[in-house]
Amino acid sequence: MKIQFKILRQKSNKRPHLQTYNLDVGLSATILDCLNRIKWEQDGTLAFRKNCRNTICGSCSMIINGRSALACKENVGGELKKLRHSRKDTPPTMIIAPLENLPVVKDLVVNMSHFWRKLEAINPYVSIKAHSIPKREFMQTSEERLQLNQSSSCIMCGACYSECNTLKVNSDFVGPHALAKTQRMIVDSRDTATDTRIEAQDIGTRGVWGCTRCHFCNVVCPMGVFPMDQISYIKQKILDRKDSQDSRVIRHRKVLVNLVKQGDGSMSVSLDYLL
Ligand code: SF4
Ligand code: SF4
Ligand code: FES
Repeated sequence: MKIQFKILRQKSNKRPHLQTYNLDVGLSATILDCLNRIKWEQDGTLAFRKNCRNTICGSCSMIINGRSALACKENVGGELKKLRHSRKDTPPTMIIAPLENLPVVKDLVVNMSHFWRKLEAINPYVSIKAHSIPKREFMQTSEERLQLNQSSSCIMCGACYSECNTLKVNSDFVGPHALAKTQRMIVDSRDTATDTRIEAQDIGTRGVWGCTRCHFCNVVCPMGVFPMDQISYIKQKILDRKDSQDSRVIRHRKVLVNLVKQGDGSMSVSLDYLL
C-alpha cells in the first residue's frame, strides 16, 4: 500500500521543515520498519533512535500522527484506522515529529538530559540505609513484589514527558516518569526513605501538586504505567499524613483541655480559645 510520510526534520537551532517520502508498505509494517526503509533506501541523512525493535528499550519514542508513541510498537494498519483515511485518489499521510518538551538534536533525535536529571533528582534507588545489613539479600513476599508491577514496567521512553501539559508551562515540574518512579519506591517494602520521598513531592508545583490531571500521560504510556494514577497515589499519601497530623493536634488539644478542667478556676478563661 502506498503511504506518504511527512517527517519533521531539523538540525539544532535551525528552522524545522517537513520532508515528504513515499513508500509502498504492508499494513503490518511498524513505523520503525518504515523509517528504516526510508533511511536505507531513500535518505541516509534521516536521524532517529532505535535499538531493541521490540518495545523494550524505549529508544524509538517520537510523535506519530499527533501523539507520542513507540515507532516499533505502532504499525501502519493501526495508524490508518486512527487516521480514518477514506479518499481513494490520494495516499494516506503519516506525520512523524520529534518528542516535545525536549530540545531537538537532529530530526527525530532529542536531547534527553532534562529527563534523566529529573529522574536522578528523586533518588531512584531503593534506600536501605535504615536497615541493618542482613546476611542474605532482602527478600520480598509475592504480594510485596506485586505492588511494584505496574510502575516498574516503565521503560523510560519519554512519551509521557513529551505529552505533559504542565511541563509546557512549568519546566521545574519533575515530570510523570519521575513521579511514577517515586511511587514505585514508596511501595517497595525494602525502601526506608518513604517519608523523605513523600515530603519531597509536597513542595510547591515542582512535585505532585504541579500535575494538572490532564490524563495525557496515562493515555500515551506504552507500558500501562498510568503515571497520573501513581501521582494520585502519592497525593493521597500526603493527604493521609496531613490528616493524621491534624488529628494529633486535636488529640493534643483535648488532653490540654482536660488538664485545664482538672486545674483551678483561674485557667477557665483560656478554655474557649482552646476549643
Ligand atoms: S496528568 Fe499530570 S503528569 Fe500526566 S501529563 Fe497531565 S499534567 Fe503531566
Ligand atoms: S511512564 Fe510510560 S510513557 Fe512515561 S517514560 Fe515510563 S514507559 Fe514511557
Ligand atoms: S526500538 Fe526499543 S522500544 Fe522501540
